[in-house]
Amino acid sequence: MKALVLAGGKGTRLRPLTHTSAKQLVPVANKPVLFYGLEAIRDAGITSVGIVVGDTGREVREAVGDGSAFGIDVTYIEQEAPLGLAHCVLIAREFLADDPFVMYLGDNFLVDGISGLVDAFRGTDCDARILLTRVSEPRFYGVAELGPDGEIVALEEKPEHPRSDLAIVGVYTFSPAIHEAVRAITPSSRGELEITDAITWLIDTGRRVQSHFVTGYWRDTGRLQDMLECNRIVLEAIETDLGGTVDGLSDVTGRVVVAPGAVVEGSVIRGPVVIGADAKISRTYIGPYTSIGERCVLEDTEVDYSIVLGDSAIRGVSGLTHSLIGRNVEVTRATGVPNTHQLMVGDHSRVQVRA
Ligand code: TTP
Repeated sequence: MKALVLAGGKGTRLRPLTHTSAKQLVPVANKPVLFYGLEAIRDAGITSVGIVVGDTGREVREAVGDGSAFGIDVTYIEQEAPLGLAHCVLIAREFLADDPFVMYLGDNFLVDGISGLVDAFRGTDCDARILLTRVSEPRFYGVAELGPDGEIVALEEKPEHPRSDLAIVGVYTFSPAIHEAVRAITPSSRGELEITDAITWLIDTGRRVQSHFVTGYWRDTGRLQDMLECNRIVLEAIETDLGGTVDGLSDVTGRVVVAPGAVVEGSVIRGPVVIGADAKISRTYIGPYTSIGERCVLEDTEVDYSIVLGDSAIRGVSGLTHSLIGRNVEVTRATGVPNTHQLMVGDHSRVQVRA
């Protein structure tokens, strides 16, 4: 069995971060979200992995390399534009050959991995087994309708009047029959080859498409709120590891990771928190569910429930919360009168200030 990981796309919902970097590489507890997926694939016993990349391909290649660090063997597949999930299957034909495979959307996050789905698929002769979960607002998702034996009898993309609350999660297993399906369909009104259309084609031509329910936590990390929630879930499970330096004036409680080379001085850290390698935290409060990236500098600052990516500096700022701060960002206190905010914020950014 092989794996096809989708790591292209536009990432419009996470702009401006995705103007400059791949959304699949935004870190959760200081580890790119894509890495959790690659580890889940390896843990399911799959080593031959194709990764579809787009504009941010160079960055993905640099982060993942040949896959040996994960115990997998990676083949990169270039997609000239984000032309749809089924388009990814189309261009991966040569890599996939006639093997069954699992397709994994690179920005999805599943706490319990994919071994349950992959093992169940290996044990049956169906042509697809699709991961589903119950959601409260199905009209924002691809929605499945099930028959009496748990088989999928119909799929609808973002329906106005959903016929169930079963949303499609971003992990699918397929037999080689899917290749015929992706060749048979035409682009949707948004100009993409939709995987839901390809699966519907399988159903309409009498193939067996089974459902499989997610156990544990799942999120599509496409939006800020989802990133922060994934970060919280992963941090809930960390173990304390003070590899860096914490001075005697600091107060560190709860589960906290201070990576090697990081320095904490005169600060209060209330876990769960991770602080990346070579970061410097001075006279600062870091509250629960916060990940501080490598080489960040925080001085005279208060922050909680946030993700700060590497090489950023925050100085003299209190009350930072629910925030996602990119790489090489500087946030400082404006001084003097009048009491002003001075902003230089990129396109598609969102800033909330308490004026
Ligand atoms: P989406 O989240 O559906 O699309 P997107 O990445 O363009 O994001 P947004 O909605 O914020 O604009 O894509 C799911 C995953 O599949 C994601 O990891 C990107 C990847 N993908 C491709 O690799 N190629 C494609 O053609 C598409 C549509 C997505």
